Amino acid sequence: MPLVSTKEMFKKAYEGGYAIGAFNVNNMEIVQAIVEAANELKSPVILQASKGAREYANPVYLKKLVEAAVETSNIPIALHLDHGDTFELCKSCIDSGFTSVMIDGSHLSFEENIALTTKVVEYAHAHGVTVEGELGQLAGVEDEVNVEHHSYTNPDDVVEFVTRTGVDSLAIAIGTSHGAFKFKPGQEPQLRFDILDEITERLPNFPIVLHGASSVSQEYVKIIQENGGSLQDAIGIPEEMLRQAARSAVCKINIDSDLRLAFTAGIRKVFNDKPDVFDPRSYLKPARANIKSLVAHKIKNVLGSEGKAE
Ligand code: G3H
Ligand code: 13P
Ligand code: ZN
Repeated sequence: MPLVSTKEMFKKAYEGGYAIGAFNVNNMEIVQAIVEAANELKSPVILQASKGAREYANPVYLKKLVEAAVETSNIPIALHLDHGDTFELCKSCIDSGFTSVMIDGSHLSFEENIALTTKVVEYAHAHGVTVEGELGQLAGVEDEVNVEHHSYTNPDDVVEFVTRTGVDSLAIAIGTSHGAFKFKPGQEPQLRFDILDEITERLPNFPIVLHGASSVSQEYVKIIQENGGSLQDAIGIPEEMLRQAARSAVCKINIDSDLRLAFTAGIRKVFNDKPDVFDPRSYLKPARANIKSLVAHKIKNVLGSEGKAE
C-alpha cells in the first residue's frame, strides 16, 4: 500500500471515535519499532518528521526509511511534516513525497497565520497533500523558544481560520505542552475539554489535533533515573484524558517525548548493567523493543486504533 494522505484516515477516525497516533521519527530503529507495532495491530499510523529530524537524518535517508516501512507493512501510513515553519520547508516536503504537512503559524498574528497557512494549503492541495494548521500556543519549549503560559485556542477564531485557509485539520491549545515536564509538581493535570467542546460545536465533523500529548510513562522515567539519568518531576498527560480526547473530535495525537524516554531507558539500562558492551546492536535492540511495546500500548489502550486498518 503506498503512502496515504490523512484525509481518509481522519474521516474514519472521526466517525469511529478513535484517534491516529502521530509518532515522531528520527532514525531507522524508531521507524521500525512504530511500524512493526502498528502493522501487527492492524492500525493506521502517521510517521511525522520535524525540521530537526530531517536535518539529523538527512531528508533522503528519512524518506527511504519510510519507504522501507511502507514496503514491509500492510497498513495505511501517512508521512507528515511536523511543525513546518516556512512555505519553503513545506514545499520541499511536498515535492519529496510527504503526504501531509503542518504549517505552524501559531506564533504569528491571526492575519499573518492565515496568509502563510493559505499559501501552503494552495500548494499542498494542488499536489494532493493535506495540511494541518495551528491556532493558539502551547506552553513549553519548542524550537528553543520557551513559552511560559498556555495561550488557549479561542473558539471564536476557529471557523474564520478554517474557512479562510482551507486547512484539513487544526491543532489547538487546551493545556497540553511539548516535552517531559508538562505540569508542575503537585499541580493537578488538567485539559480544557470545555474549549474542545466549544470548538467542536462550531466546527462539526472537523478533525482536531493534539500536540504535546505524551503521557511520560513513570515506568521509563524510573528506569532512566535508576540508571544514571536525571529526570526530576517529569509529568505527562494522563492516559484517561487522551482516551477521552480520542473518542471526541481529536483525530490525531502527537507523541514524541514518550518515544524518547522509552529509547533512552533501553540504552541507559544496558550501559549501566553491562559496562563492557560496545556493539551498538546490543543497546539499540532493547531500545527499539521498548518503543515497539510503547506504541502497541498506545494503539490498544489510548488511541483505540487497533484493527482500524482493515
Ligand atoms: O514538537 C516537537 C517534536 O517533539 C519534534 O521535536 O524538533 O526536537 O525534532 P524536534
Ligand atoms: P510530546 O513532547 O508531548 O511528545 O509532543 C510531541 C509533539 O507534539 C510533536 O509535534
Ligand atoms: Zn508538536
